[in-house]
Amino acid sequence: MSIPASLTQARAAATSALSNPAFQDSPFANMSTKEFNVTAYTLNSSQRGCYRVGALPIALGTNDTCALGFHCPKSSNEFPPQYCHPTEECAVMRASRRTCDPQGTLEPKVCANGFYCPPGGKQQLPCPKGTFCPSGSFEPFNCTYAAICPAKSVRQLNVLPLYLTVIIDLTFVFVVIIIFCVQRRRRNRSAKSTTPVPEERSQTILLQTPGSPGTATPGRTQSPSISSAGSSDSSRPPSTNPSTNPRRANARVDHYDGYADDDNVSTLYDEDVENELQNSPNMQRFIRSMSKAVETSCIGLSFDFENLSFCAKGGKKILTDITGTMPRGSCWGIMGGSGAGKSTFVNVLMGKTHATNGTIKINGHRQDMSKYKKLIGYVPQDDIVFPELTVRENILHSAHARLPQKWRDREIQEHVDSLIASLQLTHVQHSRVGDATRPVISGGQRKRVNIGMELAAAPMAIFLDEPTSGLDATSAASIMKLLRAISRLGVTTIAIVHQPRERIFQGFDQVLLLAEGRSVYSGPTEAVQTYFEGLGYAFPQKANPADALIDIITGDGAEYCMSATKCEQGEVGFLIEAWKAGSQYMKTQNKHLSLASTQSEKSRRISNQSLNSTAEQEEALRRTMKLRGASWLAQVYYCWKRAATQQLRNQVSFLFEIGVGGLAGMIIGLSAFASNGHLFQGLYHQPFTLLSSAIDYNSTPQIGLLGAMAIGLAASAPGFWVFGEEKLMYWRETASGHSRSAYYVGKLLSTFLRIALSSWHFTVFLGVLATPLISFQEMYAANLMYFWCIYGLASIVSMLVKREDGPLLAVLASLIIGVLGGVAPPLAKVKSWHMEWFWRLSPGVWFTEAYFSQNVLPMKYLYITDLAAKSTGYTLGQYGMDIAMLFSIGVVYRLIAYLGLILMNRDKQR
Ligand SMILES: Nc1ncnc2c1ncn2[C@@H]1O[C@H](COP(=O)(O)OP(=O)(O)OP(=O)(O)O)[C@@H](O)[C@H]1O
Ligand SMILES: [Mg+2]
Repeated sequence: MSIPASLTQARAAATSALSNPAFQDSPFANMSTKEFNVTAYTLNSSQRGCYRVGALPIALGTNDTCALGFHCPKSSNEFPPQYCHPTEECAVMRASRRTCDPQGTLEPKVCANGFYCPPGGKQQLPCPKGTFCPSGSFEPFNCTYAAICPAKSVRQLNVLPLYLTVIIDLTFVFVVIIIFCVQRRRRNRSAKSTTPVPEERSQTILLQTPGSPGTATPGRTQSPSISSAGSSDSSRPPSTNPSTNPRRANARVDHYDGYADDDNVSTLYDEDVENELQNSPNMQRFIRSMSKAVETSCIGLSFDFENLSFCAKGGKKILTDITGTMPRGSCWGIMGGSGAGKSTFVNVLMGKTHATNGTIKINGHRQDMSKYKKLIGYVPQDDIVFPELTVRENILHSAHARLPQKWRDREIQEHVDSLIASLQLTHVQHSRVGDATRPVISGGQRKRVNIGMELAAAPMAIFLDEPTSGLDATSAASIMKLLRAISRLGVTTIAIVHQPRERIFQGFDQVLLLAEGRSVYSGPTEAVQTYFEGLGYAFPQKANPADALIDIITGDGAEYCMSATKCEQGEVGFLIEAWKAGSQYMKTQNKHLSLASTQSEKSRRISNQSLNSTAEQEEALRRTMKLRGASWLAQVYYCWKRAATQQLRNQVSFLFEIGVGGLAGMIIGLSAFASNGHLFQGLYHQPFTLLSSAIDYNSTPQIGLLGAMAIGLAASAPGFWVFGEEKLMYWRETASGHSRSAYYVGKLLSTFLRIALSSWHFTVFLGVLATPLISFQEMYAANLMYFWCIYGLASIVSMLVKREDGPLLAVLASLIIGVLGGVAPPLAKVKSWHMEWFWRLSPGVWFTEAYFSQNVLPMKYLYITDLAAKSTGYTLGQYGMDIAMLFSIGVVYRLIAYLGLILMNRDKQR
C-alpha cells in the first residue's frame, strides 16, 4: 500500500521543522517523539498552532519578521510567523496558483488582492481610489492619470491611451478630409488657371539659326536658341498659314555642326511642327522652358555604334552587327516587326543590357552611357507610373527630382503646366492615373503621362519605346510634333514605332529598320523608298510607305516585289544580305546628301556626322550634369511626400493595417483578461518560500510570443508592399539618375506614421484588456520597435522575391523570428545547447525579454525573481538594452534591404 502523499509531506515537514534552527531554540526542541505528538495535537486546539489535526507548525523566523507584501496579524516576537502543512483543499489552491487562507494561527498570508499591507504586516488596508494593489502589495501602486482605479482595485484600467486613440483617429480622419477638400479646391482653381490666356497666343518662339539676333558666333557649333518674338511681332495678328507667316519664314533650326546656310526652306513636316508651335502657346512655353534646361549651348549627345550584337543566355542571337550613327539633335525612328529586336537594341544602346559584341561611342568617345544618365530620358514600352498619384503629381515629381537645381518651384510648375498642356492632359491632370485593374484615365493618356515623366526632366537625348502605340492618330501626330520640336533644340530623339502613319513616319530624319535582329536599312527617311525600289520593290502610289516597309521587312512583301530575281519572294534574308552589301554605299550616299545639298534643311539633318567632343565640351556636359537633379535632401523630401501621398490615397489598406494592429492587440488582451493583470508568480523570498503557490513563469513570455506573432501577421504584408510593389518604378528612376539612398530614406520615413499608429493601436487594446504591470510607455516602445523590425524584415523579403510570393514569405519570416523568442523551446534550454547567440539574432527574444523583465521586476520585493530569470533564461533589468537591440536589428534589416535594393537587378538600374 502506498503512503498517502499528504502523510509523506507531513513527515517531510516535520523533519524539516526539526532541523530548523528556529525550532531547535524553541520550547519543543527537547521533547520526545510521544511528547511531541501529544503537543502537536494539543497545539492544534490551542490559539497558536496549525488548524490541521496533527500538522506541525514550522517557525518562519526567530522573531516577528513579516516579509514585505505579507499580512502577519497575530505573530509577535514571542510567537514568530509559522508555516503549517496545508490541507488538501489549500494544497490544490496553491498548486493552481491561487492562495488559501492561513493554515495556522500564526501563518502569514500574502496581502490580498485589492489590499495592501504596510511594512510590518500588521495591517491589511483596502487600496484607496486612484491606486491599485495586486496580490502581495506592501503599498499601493499609483494609477496613471485618468486610469480607472476605484477603491480596492487589483489592476489599473489605463484608458487614457484609449481616449487619445479616439482623439488621434478622429483628428486623422479630420485631417484627411481637410486635405481632400483643400486639394479639391486647389485642383479646381488650377484647372481654371491652366486655361491658356488669349494674350499668350501672341507669344511666339523662333527657332533661330546662327547669325540671327540673339545667337552665338556664326559658324560655331551652336544649339538652337529660342526666344520670344512677342515684343516685335505681337502687334501682328497671329497667322496660321505658314506660307504667309513672316515668323515662319524666319523659323530656322541649326542642327548639324558646320552646315550653316541661308536657305529658308522647311520640309513639309517642319511646316506642320511650325504650325503647331504657332497655334499652341503651351507648346511654345514648353519648348522655351526645355531650351532653358538644355543649357549646354555647344554640345548635346550623339551616339555611334558599330557591329552591335547581343546573344541571350541560351546563346540565342537577338541582335547581330548593328552599325550606325545618331548625331546630336537627330530624330530617329526604329522600325521592325514584333520581336525584331527593337527594344533589345535600345536597351543595348543605352547600356541597360550589355552588348555581347561591338562598340558604342558617345560624342565620339567610348564611354559608359550610365555616366550621362541624368541627361538621358527613357520611356519604356510598358507604362510605369504611380497609379495612386494624379497625372500632374507623376510628372511633377520627375520634374522636381531631375530638373536643374537652381530652378525655382514656380518655374518648375510652369514647365509642367506647359508640358501637360502640350500632351493634351490638362483636363485629366488632377485625375489619378490608375492601373490596368482600376483604370481612371485611358490607356493612351497613361502613355502620355509616361512620356511626360521623361520630357519633364528636359533630357538631352530621349529614347522612347513605342510612344505612340495606343494613341489615336491626332494624339500620336501631336506627340510626334512635340518630339520633333524638341529634337530641333538639339535633343537626340530615338523612338521605336510600330506601323506609323505616314505623317509620323515622315517626322523622322532617319530610320533604322530591323529584321530578325539585323539592320535592313539605316539612313535618311527620304531615301528609304528609293533604296527599297532599288532592290526591286514598288511602293503603291497612294498608300502609306511605312505600311509597305513593315510588310517588306517582316517578310510579307512579296506583293510589292517587282523583280522575282531581286526580291526573292520577300525573303528577309535577302534584305539583310542586300543591306550588308550596300550599307557602305548608303554611308557614302548620306554623306554626299548632307554635304552636297545646301538647299534643303532636311538634307542637313540627315547628316551622318557625329560629334567628336572636345575636352571643353565634355567639361560643359559634366557641369550641366552636376547642376541637374534636386539635392539629396530635396529628393528625400520629394520621395517621402510622394510615398505619403500614395499611402493617404490607399486609405483603405492604411486603415486596415491599423485596424488589424488594434484587433490583434484586442485578441491577445482578451486571452489574458481573466488573469486580472496577474501575469507572473514566483516563489516568495525566504523565509516565506514555503507559503508559495505554484509558479507562473510562462504567462508573460506567452504574451510576448503572441504579441510578436500578431505583429508579424499584421505588419509583414504591408511592410512588404513598401518596396515590393514599385520595383519597376525604382529601376526606372534609378536609371535616370535619381539618388537610390534618397529614394530609400524617403520611403523609409513614409512608413514611420503607419508603424507608429499600428503599434499604438495594438498597445492600447492589449494594455486595456491584459492590464500588465509593464507601463504603457514601455509596452508601446517595445511594440513600436518590434513593428520596426518586422517592417525591416519584410523589406529584405521584398528585395529577394517576386511580388506574388512576397507577402506569404514575409509572414513566414516574421513567424520564424517570433518563434525564436525563447518561449518554446525555452531560452534556458537553448542556452544549454550553446545556441543562445542564434536566438539573440532574432528580435523575438529581445521583445519577449523586455515584456518579461518589466512585468516581473515590479514584484521583485515579493518573489525570487533571479530564480525566474534562471529558469526562463531571460535577463532581467536590461529593458533599455532590449529596446536598443530591437532598434539596432531593425536598422540592420534595413541596411541589408538597402544593399539588396542596390545590388540586386543592377542591370535594370542602369
Ligand atoms: N534576355 C533575353 N533572353 C531571351 N530572349 C530575349 C531576351 N531579350 C529579348 N529576347 C527575344 O528577342 C526577341 C526580340 O525582343 P524585343 O523585345 O527586342 O522585340 P521588339 O522588336 O521590341 O518586339 P515588340 O515590337 O513586340 O516589342 C524576342 O523574340 C525576345 O523574345
Ligand atoms: Mg519592344
